[in-house]
Amino acid sequence: MNKPLLAGSALALAAAVGTTSMVAMATTQEDADQAQQLIKEFATTLQGELKGALKEGGPVNAVSVCEEKAPAIATNLSEQSGWDVGRTSLKTRNAARNTPDEWERNVLEQFESRKANGESPKGMSYASVVDTDDGKVYRYMQAIPTQQVCLACHGKDLPPDLVEAIDKAYPEDEARGYSVGDIRGAFTLSKPL
Ligand code: HEC
Repeated sequence: MNKPLLAGSALALAAAVGTTSMVAMATTQEDADQAQQLIKEFATTLQGELKGALKEGGPVNAVSVCEEKAPAIATNLSEQSGWDVGRTSLKTRNAARNTPDEWERNVLEQFESRKANGESPKGMSYASVVDTDDGKVYRYMQAIPTQQVCLACHGKDLPPDLVEAIDKAYPEDEARGYSVGDIRGAFTLSKPL
């Protein structure tokens, strides 16, 4: 599903850089593969922690696991790989950590319109090479679809003890009221080129 899109962005890049197009294309595909691999690791590790914590002590207990493990896994992967690895959303639970920058907000909005046009959010991604003050940066985002297990903490009608725990840890939480299949947010990765 995301292959043609990546090829599309690689082609746009290739057109922009002219003669070095083949090199640029190869680099972009390789970067996309690396990003996808890191996302797989992030998602698998976090879901493992999440499921374990939910089983052990229910959602109230699992809130603090999410709070600590999600950034720990992201930091760990970033240190190992040289990529900057994180998560973001149009409606954040942890605004201090996960608020999108302008580029990310645009991509998240693009994902919403692609979904509205009938595309499945599963594997939905977007990649681009962005000019920054520190040089060129490869940026990659992949949508995170809401699954059944997520509703325990991001769904509608949360139980009062959980609402209390979330409100205490995240007084400005916006990440509630989701349904299965909604885009909960996105993995966001970048790497200096
Ligand atoms: C046990 C409760 C719990 C469950 C279940 C849960 N989350 Fe979260 N989620 C949280 C908490 C707490 C945070 C804030 C983490 C932080 O402080 O960085 C969060 C943050 C996020 C973020 C980062 C953006 C933001 O809102 O700040 C995403 C994306 C996300 N969750 C997706 C999911 C998905 C997808 C699932 C299901 C696979 C899921 N969550 C299940 C509690 C939960």
